[in-house]
Amino acid sequence: MRVAGERRAVHRDEAGQLHAVSARCTHLGCLVAFNRAERAWECPCHGSRFDVEGKVIQGPAQQPLERKEL
Ligand code: FES
Repeated sequence: MRVAGERRAVHRDEAGQLHAVSARCTHLGCLVAFNRAERAWECPCHGSRFDVEGKVIQGPAQQPLERKEL
């Protein structure tokens, strides 16, 4: 979703809590997409994967997605 002109990746967990992070991959800036089966944000450009809090699961990205408020 867009918030104040910025792309945010937002996930609602089973308890109804929202988790928002920047949708820009910290590797080279592509937009991540959500994989429901894996409950992970995935970058289509070079395969980085992040958990719903933005933590890196798999590189090449080394920095987490920035956490955001909604
Ligand atoms: S831009 Fe996302 S993995 Fe390279």
